[in-house]
Amino acid sequence: MATKSPSDSSLDRLLTLEIVRVTERAAVAASRLRGRGDEKEADQVAVDAMRQELNKLPINGRVVIGEGERDEAPMLYIGEEVGTGLGPDVDIALDPLEGTTICAKNLPNALAVIAVAEKNSLLYAPDVYMDKIAIGPGYPKGIISIDASPTENLSALAKAKGVPIAQITVCILDRPRHARMIEEVRASGAAIRLIGDGDVAGIIHTTDPDETGIDIYMGIGGAPEGVLAAAALRCIGGQMQGRLQLNTAEKIARAKTMGIMDPLRVYEMEDMASGDVVFAATGVTDGNMLSGVRFARDAIVTHTIVMRSSSRTVREIKARHQDLGKFG
Ligand code: FBP
Repeated sequence: MATKSPSDSSLDRLLTLEIVRVTERAAVAASRLRGRGDEKEADQVAVDAMRQELNKLPINGRVVIGEGERDEAPMLYIGEEVGTGLGPDVDIALDPLEGTTICAKNLPNALAVIAVAEKNSLLYAPDVYMDKIAIGPGYPKGIISIDASPTENLSALAKAKGVPIAQITVCILDRPRHARMIEEVRASGAAIRLIGDGDVAGIIHTTDPDETGIDIYMGIGGAPEGVLAAAALRCIGGQMQGRLQLNTAEKIARAKTMGIMDPLRVYEMEDMASGDVVFAATGVTDGNMLSGVRFARDAIVTHTIVMRSSSRTVREIKARHQDLGKFG
């Protein structure tokens, strides 16, 4: 069967709307378990729902960032083939519920997320930590660097934005490993938005500081989440760097089996997500950019952001679903 490349614009455009259904479906499933204290169950229902919808897509997809290795994740594992098989060869990065704990606690910014990209254009990242730094669009290239100190990065950003450092807000995951960074950022005069979880949202939030109040993301989170965030930034614009935290011989060896030969390599955004990428995220809980799922008497309302790297179009889709049967 002849396949078309996703760079074919009509197909690319079609997929953009199709993948919205995938994140909507996962978000609705997870949102039924908001605030119920059961992270595993919330994740499981989101995975089931996303997989069902993904398998309806006219793609020949391969999960490269998923729920884990095949032996530990029965569904949406790394390497799983998804879609109808009748369509373009694409790589998929997904997280049916990004922020399992925030969903279980019904706190802000839990998302259902997916990125669909041309084959071999997403970083095949192991499930380790990644040091990340990201800013939104509109700044000269190279003003931030993962090798610079927080103070240096914040000074450069403030200068480029034309404001004092005191008017910059940094998003950081609230973890003991960030204690020194937090101390230095505070000493520099910048403000911090400490988040409990969910650094994909944290990074996306840098793209619209007026709306979210966040100018820059810094710190160590999951590498799979890093690739997802890089895919989003490729579409909206912005700058990001990441470095895998391969700090044991076992991790270095595991990374080698995935083709990562230099454990200290700094990945630019384009190294993590190259080629054509389509990205979608649907809010599970209310957040700074997306509303969470609403259950009205006769409808379910979802809020999704979907974007394409080839056109840089960013769409927000507020959907009112009245055929409730399709959500099970
Ligand atoms: P889950 O959705 O798997 O719970 O991940 C949430 C998250 O906060 C990510 O956004 C982040 O990258 C990672 O966990 C940080 O890991 P850790 O909780 O181990 O610091």
